[in-house]
Amino acid sequence: PTVGIVIPAAGRGTRAGQGCQKAYRRIEGDTVINRTVKLFRSWNLTCPIVIIHHADDTALLEASIDRDDKIYTAIGGAERGASVLEGLRFLSQLANPPSHAFIHDAARPFASQNLLNTVFDAIRKDPSVGVIPAISVADTLKKTDSNGLIIQTVPRESLHRAQTPQAFELHTILSAHERAATSGLSYTDDASLFEEIGLPVRVVPGESNNIKLTYTEDFDEARRLVSVQNP
Ligand code: CTP
Ligand code: MG
Repeated sequence: PTVGIVIPAAGRGTRAGQGCQKAYRRIEGDTVINRTVKLFRSWNLTCPIVIIHHADDTALLEASIDRDDKIYTAIGGAERGASVLEGLRFLSQLANPPSHAFIHDAARPFASQNLLNTVFDAIRKDPSVGVIPAISVADTLKKTDSNGLIIQTVPRESLHRAQTPQAFELHTILSAHERAATSGLSYTDDASLFEEIGLPVRVVPGESNNIKLTYTEDFDEARRLVSVQNP
């Protein structure tokens, strides 16, 4: 398989606050988006990488990344799904479109090279099966009613927390996103679209360090993770 990377970075980062959208904030000197781009560029020196950004952030993005001639940018949409769709369209319109797309949140700069290899190995074994990294749930899960009273303890054995990168055959995930866009379906990850149309998706072990920077406090954890990476 050949791989192209879609990095959605067009969100507003509302929950992280702090004035500057989270992808452009610096952790120990380097921006979140550049850390995420470098993660894929070190993994594969030549694969196309499409960064999806907000129309207001064009200058900010240029000031935040180390460019090469296989790094492309495109403008995203109002929902994450619309942004991903733009990236998938971009990959499919390249002169040599990759067979597979890796879709990875800009806000997850700490995925390891090992994780990318694990996802790729799964794609290589079974190219038509989607792949996502996920972590099994450790806490006991309680379902509550609107008064906060417990209705049920939910068995956690088969439950997982989904991460990215999520990888799929490009033409299949692209048409799934196109269909979802026309039907107005709402979804928070890309695997949901495969599930929706009955296509198989495999879970591979995720990583506890592969956090999504969501809240301001996550940046404290991010500084800690960077110091572990570069002691
Ligand atoms: N994203 C995107 N386009 C959108 C919404 C989200 O490209 N319209 C991207 C974000 O930039 C982020 C990733 O999808 O890298 C995961 O989304 P999330 O963590 O929710 O980021 P934001 O939507 O930016 O944050 P918030 O929901 O707090 O506003
Ligand atoms: Mg969001």
